[in-house]
Amino acid sequence: MRILVTGGTGYIGSHTVVELQQKGIEVIIVDNLSNSNITVVEAIESISGFRPEFEKLDLSDAQLTADFFKRHAEINSVIHFAASKAVGESVEKPLMYYHNNLVSLINVLKGMNENHIHNFVFSSSCTVYGQPEELPVTEKAPIQIAESPYGNTKQISEEIISDTIKASDLKGIALRYFNPIGAHSSAKIGELPLGIPNNLMPFITQTAIGKRECLSVFGDDYDTPDGTAIRDYIHVVDLAKAHVVAVERMINNKMKLNMEYFNLGTGKGSSVMEVINSFEKTTAEKLNYKIVGRRTGDILKVWADTSFANIELGWKAEKTLDEMTLSAWKWEQNLNKD
Ligand code: NAD
Ligand code: WQD
Repeated sequence: MRILVTGGTGYIGSHTVVELQQKGIEVIIVDNLSNSNITVVEAIESISGFRPEFEKLDLSDAQLTADFFKRHAEINSVIHFAASKAVGESVEKPLMYYHNNLVSLINVLKGMNENHIHNFVFSSSCTVYGQPEELPVTEKAPIQIAESPYGNTKQISEEIISDTIKASDLKGIALRYFNPIGAHSSAKIGELPLGIPNNLMPFITQTAIGKRECLSVFGDDYDTPDGTAIRDYIHVVDLAKAHVVAVERMINNKMKLNMEYFNLGTGKGSSVMEVINSFEKTTAEKLNYKIVGRRTGDILKVWADTSFANIELGWKAEKTLDEMTLSAWKWEQNLNKD
């Protein structure tokens, strides 16, 4: 028995592969390396002691994906991370995003159906909630019109999975991540943004290390205690562990419905300034930042109601914001040590 991890050399995928291996689960990674590096396979091996099987493959290629599944009858579950994820880029290249994220998903689901693989875990996002009316946001909150083509691919993907489940033996768990940050305690794997980072945490660490001159804080006039926007930041290792629990839930037939949705966050919101303060405190680095105007499309505040995941999955995020910012810094330092 083996688990296919698509996008397994990426940021969240690599941490999940390590957690799966540490539970004695065998993994095969498929990735086209469009946003990750083959060296991650060695890094995973050096942490877990096991080299995961790796196959370079573009899952948006229908024939290659179908052939892959035919060659791998031993796969019993799939965790599907592979997707393009840059919100701004998706606004500029919508067709590329719809093509990569949706066609890859369809090819994987077809491969699973044709080869009688029934367990599917999907990387969804809190972006499906937009700006929720009630906080903390539960899984029952209405899905809002997506702010970006990227966000829309997550909404459409959830619908594609749900419809496929109604028409087949497939079972699915959609994990709606809040804001994953931080890195593995070994500092051997972490986030590897291409070019200028869009997200807050890599922008902070790249500024502190000297790759960027100054962090722009997007708005300090929001209706929040310190005026900066609030998100639910979650340590990537906590997030990775939830995937192991989700896949075990499927394998052990513990699901209550054939399609389930879980919020993966800490349940606690932190403002941009709180993240900066945590970073400065844990690393003793002074961060160069300035307040600028709001970023178009940003929501004001969001954090998760995690009670459903806590009770049903028996999973809870454990790591603090300080652990997140410090581990992100150690990863950035390790990347730049030569
Ligand atoms: P990532 O870019 O680090 O990892 C995605 C991996 O998928 C990369 O290694 C990339 O090379 C691969 N990939 C992309 N298209 C592919 C294709 N056609 N065939 C094969 N491989 C392909 O991103 P991540 O942060 O690890 O995100 C993983 C998943 O979680 C994505 O689906 C993303 O949308 C979702 N997600 C991420 C966040 C976040 O803030 N990081 C939040 C919510 C949801
Ligand atoms: C966090 C906060 C910014 C950068 C995005 C996607 C979402 C999800 C996660 C996948 C916000 C502020 C940021 C900077 C700043 N991904 N900020 N200066 O916007 O919550 O969500 O990533 O599904 O879909 O939209 O995350 O890290 O970009 O921003 O002040 O240079 O930091 O305004 O308040 P976001 P983020």
